[in-house]
Amino acid sequence: MSILHITCSPRGRHSESYRLSQRILDRLIAAAGDSKPEIVEIDATALPHVDQDYAAALSASADPADDILARGALRQSAQLIQALQDATHIVIATPMHNFTVPSSLKVWIDHVVRVRSTFRITPEGKTGNLPDRPVYVAISSGGEFSSGAARQPDFLTPYLKHVLGTVGLQTVTFFSVEGTARGEDALQAARRRADADIAAHPSLAGQAHAW
Ligand SMILES: Cc1cc2nc3c(=O)[nH]c(=O)nc-3n(C[C@H](O)[C@H](O)[C@H](O)COP(=O)(O)O)c2cc1C
Repeated sequence: MSILHITCSPRGRHSESYRLSQRILDRLIAAAGDSKPEIVEIDATALPHVDQDYAAALSASADPADDILARGALRQSAQLIQALQDATHIVIATPMHNFTVPSSLKVWIDHVVRVRSTFRITPEGKTGNLPDRPVYVAISSGGEFSSGAARQPDFLTPYLKHVLGTVGLQTVTFFSVEGTARGEDALQAARRRADADIAAHPSLAGQAHAW
């Protein structure tokens, strides 16, 4: 098992989404038994935006020369795609920002959703080139977005499901701690609900590590 852990909060390891993603990792580690999984963590907040060469390459009908591919965002993109290809499981820790993914996660998406690499254009539209693997998304939000109590639209989960599906990642599961701005009691209750959802998920069943 090799887990790619993408972290997207400006609050880093102190963030609620990071905490929730650790619960998912605990389950995956426990499910792996004696074979300790490799965990590759990528801090999406440290990724630079795509650059001019990258934009030109993705708008052209063929890839540029090797020297251009080997520099800047094209090189960064190749490394991020390799990490995605190497993973057996993907865990994304993300806050909701302005009803959708934060800009850090969008930057990672822009680097890995790449024509002639992770997807191809067909008469039916964009078709993914990556083999499917489980993707778990740990979301934290200040208000609710998924329940009857929601007073805001959710452009995060449908967008992420669509864009990951574009590269072939169809098996996407969302967990969320919602209402983090509603005080300590609400936060604790939301954490308990999310932990229970994780524990109940069929592919995450098994003992969590006790640390
Ligand atoms: C720039 C920004 C935009 C935000 N937009 C939303 C939003 O649209 N909906 C929401 O429920 N919370 C929003 N929040 C609140 C965060 O989602 C919330 O604080 C979350 O718990 C942060 O998770 P983290 O600790 O993983 O970063 C926003 C926060 C920031 C910083």
